[in-house]
Amino acid sequence: MDRVIIFDTTLRDGEQSPGFSMNAMEKLEMARQLARLNVDVIEAGFPISSEEDFEATREVARQVGTLEGAPIICGLSRVGLGDIDRCWEAVRHARRSRIHTFVATSDIHLKYKLRKSRAEVMKAAVEAVRHARGYCEDVEFSPEDASRSDFDYMCDVLSAVIDAGARTINIPDTVGYAIPTEWAERIAHIRERVHGVDKAVLSVHCHNDLGQAVANSLTALMHGARQVECTINGIGERAGNASLEEIVMALRTRRDFFGLETAVKTEEIFKTSRLLSHITGVHVQPNKAVVGENAFAHEAGIHQDGVLKEKLTYEIMKPEDIGRPSNKLVLGKHSGRAALSSRLKELGFDLTGSDLDRAFKTFKDLADRKKEVYDEDLMAIVTDEATQIDTVYDLEYLHVISGTGVIPSATVRLKKDGESYQDSGVGDGPVDAVLAAIEAITGMKGRLQDYSIRAATSGKDALGEVAVKVDFDGTSVSGKGSSTDVIEASARAYLSALNRMLRSGQRPKDAGGV
Ligand code: KIV
Ligand code: ZN
Repeated sequence: MDRVIIFDTTLRDGEQSPGFSMNAMEKLEMARQLARLNVDVIEAGFPISSEEDFEATREVARQVGTLEGAPIICGLSRVGLGDIDRCWEAVRHARRSRIHTFVATSDIHLKYKLRKSRAEVMKAAVEAVRHARGYCEDVEFSPEDASRSDFDYMCDVLSAVIDAGARTINIPDTVGYAIPTEWAERIAHIRERVHGVDKAVLSVHCHNDLGQAVANSLTALMHGARQVECTINGIGERAGNASLEEIVMALRTRRDFFGLETAVKTEEIFKTSRLLSHITGVHVQPNKAVVGENAFAHEAGIHQDGVLKEKLTYEIMKPEDIGRPSNKLVLGKHSGRAALSSRLKELGFDLTGSDLDRAFKTFKDLADRKKEVYDEDLMAIVTDEATQIDTVYDLEYLHVISGTGVIPSATVRLKKDGESYQDSGVGDGPVDAVLAAIEAITGMKGRLQDYSIRAATSGKDALGEVAVKVDFDGTSVSGKGSSTDVIEASARAYLSALNRMLRSGQRPKDAGGV
């Protein structure tokens, strides 16, 4: 079996798209999970793009890239030598580091964006790769907008950068313009035309503007590419990048056809997808392949009948292959700590000590309100806890008055450093009133940019999951919270955003409060 290198760019291409930005702590959390998923390369950021991205990339290299068996930590860089220096400064801390440098090769980009001649771009690309090789052996080069580049010119650039020391050449369909059969031909011809191509790994990076990103990636693998660049949930610029879970599960499910394998621990896929939604506050669409809510749901009677008789009739993958809970009834209010710990272990969460204590307390609170606790509920509890470690403010008490013909009001008590603080607020709705009370206590004014709510399971007593995006003085932070009470879930989501803001050390200067 041939091995495919999975290059995850969730933290770089994914993160740079609107609504998906992550701070350093969030990137670290995601990077740890990507390491558990066992991707081969994590592209952690674009260090020159901002101080924050530099620090986030550096922390991923330091804290995840130094773990036993960690993935390669990669940083993106333009071909400017200063950019490359900065990139290396961020990734050098990892056991295995990669510099990924790129420049556009299409005439459209050369003429309108770079205002450079083909010769100038060729020279800059070669110098960049040589400079990067001065720092490390693992250097990747991408000719941006490859699908619209003149084929011969692009191949000349690729031959020259391989000669200069590039060990991976990545062919990006930057604007999602390629069509599978055409892309396959381009990849096959690159293998024939580029000098020294055998010295480098051939990679592809496909965008999804025409909905072809996964198909183009797979077809490239069939024609000799051995690295794919992809993202969790397919997030990325515009319509996104090729989705990691779709590529990996296609290769696994149709091993008979592709004859290729990856090192990805597929049982970690669902958890990784959920963690990303949790961190960014963006849920995947219900019909999303592999990780969507309905991906394993059989609605039509004829399908249900078939599945009950034999799952093979309508299921080509098993939910457990991607670590997806079966959503069967698990625990109730009489279940103990050991039962919770054992079920969580089965779901892939090995909690001990204070982490387990916290999860158990939340579980007990939930079981008191809700008779039946499902696997989906447990996953919501645990991912909530994981994203709410080291809180600054904890919710202790909440009382809301609301109804027709009443001005909504709320009383909130928060705990900080062992002390309790209480205040109240009014608003044009109960959530608004709660946020006003929180603002009165903390002195921090946040503007709700986005708010969404969904039920974690079915049923009237379902756990409600609220995702928010809050603007604190120009800094946008996301948060999530869950509860059977949607107002409480909203308060928890808002507080999780506020805590993230405070922990990242970006407290607005004029904030009063406690
Ligand atoms: O889409 C693209 O061209 C990129 C490159 C930087 C690889 O993201
Ligand atoms: Zn891209």
